[in-house]
Amino acid sequence: GKSVVSVSQFSTEGLGLLYAVAGKMKEMVADKSDDATLSRNPPLRGRVLGTLFYETSTRTACSFQAAVARLGGTFVSVDPASSSIKKGESLEDTVMSLLSYCDAVALRHPAKGAARAAVGVARRPVLNAGDGVGEHPTQALLDLYTIAAELGGEAGLSGLRGKVVALIGDLKHGRTVHSLAKLLARFGCVLRYVSPASLQMPRYIQDEVESAGESVQTEVEDIGVVLEEADVLYVTRVQKERFASREEFDRVNGSYKITPEVLSKVKPSSVLMHPLPRVGEIVEDCDLDPRAAYFKQMENGMYVRMALLALVFGKA
Ligand code: CP
Repeated sequence: GKSVVSVSQFSTEGLGLLYAVAGKMKEMVADKSDDATLSRNPPLRGRVLGTLFYETSTRTACSFQAAVARLGGTFVSVDPASSSIKKGESLEDTVMSLLSYCDAVALRHPAKGAARAAVGVARRPVLNAGDGVGEHPTQALLDLYTIAAELGGEAGLSGLRGKVVALIGDLKHGRTVHSLAKLLARFGCVLRYVSPASLQMPRYIQDEVESAGESVQTEVEDIGVVLEEADVLYVTRVQKERFASREEFDRVNGSYKITPEVLSKVKPSSVLMHPLPRVGEIVEDCDLDPRAAYFKQMENGMYVRMALLALVFGKA
């Protein structure tokens, strides 16, 4: 089994395999017949996943847990508030403890680099479920899967060349967009970074995108500049928990709000995405617009995490 720390670990062929397996997972979940594979011969029977989340989560934790359960395995979960983490136990010792009982651990932690530190002591796979302002690889994997499904057509990932993806909001702290920009860079997308000046995409991510050599990237503050050309509007939350002061947060919060009026300027074929949770960046009046894909992202997340678990355990 292999740990997952960063999207950089995935080759283009590896992504193709992951998404082919995710597609099969979707079909398998939909099959409710008596001889369905997931009920008769579930691939992860007897496997146990540990979920260790030092930060709050709805989607990532629940979709990992549902993914392993649907594949015939089970999970145990550590709650930082009621575990020995409260007594001061280190991340490394906590991961080692959990891996004494589990076949893999999905880890979310507020510190960038936490997943890599955990891998350093782990004798079984660690799956990065978000490390501070670092990366959120499984989210970006499900986002790319969704973008390819919505825009790539028959060509899939290779249909993304030249597509304009606007990453909007808190690009400084948003680990999801850090991972996603690196993935999109491989497929020749045009990346438009839309953020307040103080929340720009970090230079080191832009350098990695540039070194992929396939993508154009530009920075703007005014969302109006990108609305007509964007094939994807990927909106993010301003990450309140990462700010030093409330004042600093208030200065930039609410910079962008997608409403039906904003959407009226966007191409009919475009896709509106958000990793969620949203706190006002996309108003609920947009939810029934055919371009809204944020609920599809959540569903795809489980199929992609099922595929990842199956591949990690050599059971795909
Ligand atoms: N998108 C995402 O990571 O959501 P959660 O924080 O709810 O897991």
